[in-house]
Amino acid sequence: MFSINSLLRPNISRLTPYSSARDEYKGREGIFLDANENPIGSPLGDTYNRYPDPLQVELKNKIAEIKNVHPAKIFLGNGSDEPIDILIRMLCTPASDAILIAPPTYGMYEVSAHINDAKVIQVPLTQDYQLDVEAMLNAVTPHTKIIFLCSPNNPTGNCMDNNDIEAILKNFSGLVVIDEAYTDFAPEKSLLPKLGQYPNMVILQTFSKAWGLAGLRLGMAFASEDIIQVMNKVKPPYNINSLTQKIAQEVLNHSDKKNEMVNIILRERSFLKTALEQLMVVDKVFPSDANFLLVKMKFHAKKIYNYLIAKKIITRDRSNVILCENSLRITVGTHEENQSLISALQEYIS
Ligand SMILES: Cc1ncc(COP(=O)(O)O)c(C=O)c1O
Repeated sequence: MFSINSLLRPNISRLTPYSSARDEYKGREGIFLDANENPIGSPLGDTYNRYPDPLQVELKNKIAEIKNVHPAKIFLGNGSDEPIDILIRMLCTPASDAILIAPPTYGMYEVSAHINDAKVIQVPLTQDYQLDVEAMLNAVTPHTKIIFLCSPNNPTGNCMDNNDIEAILKNFSGLVVIDEAYTDFAPEKSLLPKLGQYPNMVILQTFSKAWGLAGLRLGMAFASEDIIQVMNKVKPPYNINSLTQKIAQEVLNHSDKKNEMVNIILRERSFLKTALEQLMVVDKVFPSDANFLLVKMKFHAKKIYNYLIAKKIITRDRSNVILCENSLRITVGTHEENQSLISALQEYIS
C-alpha cells in the first residue's frame, strides 16, 4: 500500500506549517486587523491591499468543475515550476536521496534537484524518444524518491506511450510525476482520469501554454488528497497572488477561446512542419504533439541559430542536449511569424 508519509523527509513529517491570518479566520465580513495590511488601500486605490486566499478555494472549485477532479486533489503553484521544487523538497533528503529523469527532457527537474542537493539519475529515452521502462526501473535505488516523466516531452515534442507510463506507475514504489504542460496540443488523452487508480501519481498542468497565460504564473498539480495536504504545508502561505486568482477565474469561462487558439496552433504546426521539410537546411522535423517542433538541421545548427538571431528570429538551440544533435527547438508562431521564419531559412547560405 502506497503511503506518502513513508516517503517524506523526517523534517517534513514533523513540520508544523505556518498559520497565516487568513488561515486562522476564514470569514469575509468584518474589520480586519489581523494581517498587518494597509487598511487605506494602495496608490492604485484597488483592493490589492489585502492578502489573497492562501488555498485559492474559489479558483480551485472552478478548476475542479472543468477538470472533473475533487478540489482537495488540486494544488496551485507559481507556475508548474513551483510544485516541481516543492515535491523534491518534500521527499528528497539533501545529499542522500535522488530523482530519476529520462533525458532529453524539461530542464527544471534537474535544476530543482540540484538546488535541493538531490542526486539525479538519468536514463535516456530510446532512439525514437520513448521511455526505456526496463532500464529506468533497473536504475531505481532505495534512495530514488521521484520519477519525473514529461508527456508530451520537451524538447522532443512527442507523447510517451501511456502503457509505459502506467508500467512505471505500477512498478515504482516512489512518486511518479507526469508533466502534461503540453497536453492540450496532443491527441493522447491526459492521464488525469486515472488519478484514483494510482496513489503515487502526480499530474502537472499549466496555464502557460494552451491558455496563453505564461505571464500570470499559474500551474496545477493533481494528486491524492494526502499528497496535496503535504504540498500545502510546504508552500509559501500566499503563493498565488490576488490578480492571478482573479484573472484565472475569469479566463476559465472562456474554454471555447482556448480551444480556438489550440486549433489555430495545430493548423500552424502542420503548416510549419510541411514548410520546414521542404527546406535545403532541414534534415528532419520530428513529429510533435506539442506547440513546438524539434528540427534537425543539415548544416551547423548553432550557425543557423545565430543567423536567425541576426534576423531577430529567436529559436532555441538544443544541439548540446543528448539525442538532439544539431537540432533547434522552434515554437509554433502566428502564420506571419512562421512565414518569416521560413523565408529567412530559404535565404540561408551555408
Ligand atoms: C514540460 C514543461 N513543464 C513545465 C514548464 C513550466 O511551466 P510553468 O510556466 O507553468 O512554470 C515548461 C515550460 O516551458 C515545460 O516545458
